[in-house]
Amino acid sequence: MATITPWEVKGNIDYDRLIKDFGLSKIDNKLLKELTSKLGDSHFLRREIFFAHRDLEKALKEHEKENLFLYTGCGPSGPIHMGHAMVWMFTKWLQDKLDCELWFQFTDDEKFLFKDKTYDEIQKWTHENMLDVIALGFNPEKTHFLIDTKHAGLMYPEAIKVAKKLTFSNVKGAFGLGNNNNVGQIFYTAMQAVPAFLPSVIYKKKMFCLIPHAIDQDPHFRLTRDIIPKLGYDKPASIQSRFLPGLAGMQSDGKMSSSTGQAIYLTDDAKTVRKKIMKYAFSGGKDTVEEHRKLGGNPDIDVAFQWLVFFEEDDKKLQEIYDNYKSGKLLSGELKQILVDKLNEFLVEHQKRREKAKTMLDKFIY
Ligand code: TRP
Repeated sequence: MATITPWEVKGNIDYDRLIKDFGLSKIDNKLLKELTSKLGDSHFLRREIFFAHRDLEKALKEHEKENLFLYTGCGPSGPIHMGHAMVWMFTKWLQDKLDCELWFQFTDDEKFLFKDKTYDEIQKWTHENMLDVIALGFNPEKTHFLIDTKHAGLMYPEAIKVAKKLTFSNVKGAFGLGNNNNVGQIFYTAMQAVPAFLPSVIYKKKMFCLIPHAIDQDPHFRLTRDIIPKLGYDKPASIQSRFLPGLAGMQSDGKMSSSTGQAIYLTDDAKTVRKKIMKYAFSGGKDTVEEHRKLGGNPDIDVAFQWLVFFEEDDKKLQEIYDNYKSGKLLSGELKQILVDKLNEFLVEHQKRREKAKTMLDKFIY
């Protein structure tokens, strides 16, 4: 059984089941066509990496009226890994295509309340993570960072309006929190609701929110959607991604896990990336070269291949790799090397942009 809360993701995830359980809508062919004709092509959509949504059609209509903004966020408790980056790469693509504002929340309060880390450690990660987000290339003119504790004066008056409509039992039901959780944890979701309507408050004009996020954040936004209409705002639309599998991939019980595997961080150097992929990426290859050549590998359980589905945009290249791996022409180590090169090509440039980002913080922080 998979458990999905914003704090714990384990087990084998059945995404169609999640669509049903969470009451999401699948991005079907009709919507995919509409998105592609309006925004252009994205492998994140084409490959169903972003696979579900709420009210996305409505968001597109609001965009035509120039009312749309994007909202996403980062919980700063450690280094940024490729799983985070994947969601934000798509968010950047959306911002470029929609040419709209992006409100980016850094939930230092959340991570302080939920993790066994000091306030100072969380502040350090907030700073570090902001650099990675900037380096991903968001439009500096149209991107606004909100840091929960720093922007408390702006956000708290709105958060209490949410909190007043939210009961302890709502929060218990949505997140499985209980009597032994600290009171900050019970309150926190009110803070995550705020950016979904803050631009409407700031601009004194009804704005419409679209939230790209990984599926684990959905419980927050189910509550947000229930509550903010009571404050006079539209329910936010959202678009959900599946998870980038952890490097360990298939566990001994045959389940895919995203939380137990080693991660690739955006600050890893080329050598570290190679070492991690070679050592930890679960392989769908055969035990010996002879066997592999004869029987071929299994790309469907091979983590290096699965990662290329997320990061190799070229369908033709990907298909070729798939076919060659399956036929045994491509060995596991060779497949891994393709991924290593792909990641390092991105990371080397990212790390240069990250250096430059150090002078750009003021431009991004609201
Ligand atoms: N709670 C998220 C995390 O732990 C951070 C976050 C805040 C977020 N607001 C968001 C993520 C909006 C996606 C969309 O990482």
